[in-house]
Amino acid sequence: MKSAKLLSLCLALAATASWASPPAADGADPLKLKGNAKQGEEVYEVCSGCHLASGIGRSDGTLPVVAGQHTAVLIKQMVDIRTGHRDNPTMYPFAQSMTPQEMADSAAHMHTLKLSTKNGKGSGKNVKQGGAIYEKDCKSCHGAGGEGDEAKFIPMLTGQHFKYMQRQLGEMRAGKRKNADKDMLKVIKSYSDADIEAVSDFMSRLPLAKKK
Ligand code: HEC
Ligand code: HEC
Repeated sequence: MKSAKLLSLCLALAATASWASPPAADGADPLKLKGNAKQGEEVYEVCSGCHLASGIGRSDGTLPVVAGQHTAVLIKQMVDIRTGHRDNPTMYPFAQSMTPQEMADSAAHMHTLKLSTKNGKGSGKNVKQGGAIYEKDCKSCHGAGGEGDEAKFIPMLTGQHFKYMQRQLGEMRAGKRKNADKDMLKVIKSYSDADIEAVSDFMSRLPLAKKK
């Protein structure tokens, strides 16, 4: 990672209210470490029991696609899970046992995994309505093609499972995802279940974003 990019990440970090203090016992910030994808492949072995070796998770929405996600996004989520900022009792012990270097390495590995167009989709009935919602309320942050924005820790959403996104949006709206973005919450708090279904279906069908 170039130093200018690293600096902007640190600035974004300082500006992110939901960010907890440095996670690890030894105080190192995994975002500042250079990830080694090869080492990360070994670290990821234990993770693949749930997330699968492919990083594609499950279309039933219990496990997200982690393949190809922005490295900084993956690290932030792991840190949030580790610090209890994002509730995830099943993964918590695994996040707890990772060193900062292992976080950086496993994120580098997950980023190299390939996205698939075989992700779970919705019914296809309200995709047009979902597209209109996305255009109006989501595009400004998640990007025209759902590519996200690594410098702002905004996740890429292309190739993600419909049911996972639908569930996350429902949980955020209900105030159950503690690390949810506050400005995003303002947008979705008045959404109906049908709105959430439509926009999730639309996103699940976006062409896969190209990796940077
Ligand atoms: C026992 C199952 C389990 C194991 C093992 C596990 N995870 Fe997870 N992980 C989950 C679940 C479930 C979620 C989604 C939680 C939710 O729905 O909020 C998740 C979420 C994540 C996310 C956030 C993805 C996103 O899009 O926000 C990352 C990153 C992640 N896991 C990385 C890892 C890594 C790296 C390991 C290995 C060190 C690991 N996980 C081990 C169950 C597991
Ligand atoms: C103000 C910027 C902003 C807007 C507007 C916004 N989002 Fe987000 N979104 C974020 C950020 C930042 C995160 C990551 C939050 C975190 O760290 O947990 C996120 C997370 C998500 C996630 C969870 C991804 C994952 O891997 O767990 C989904 C799904 C999502 N957004 C969908 C949407 C949809 C649909 C809309 C429009 C209705 C929307 N967002 C509008 C900033 C935004």
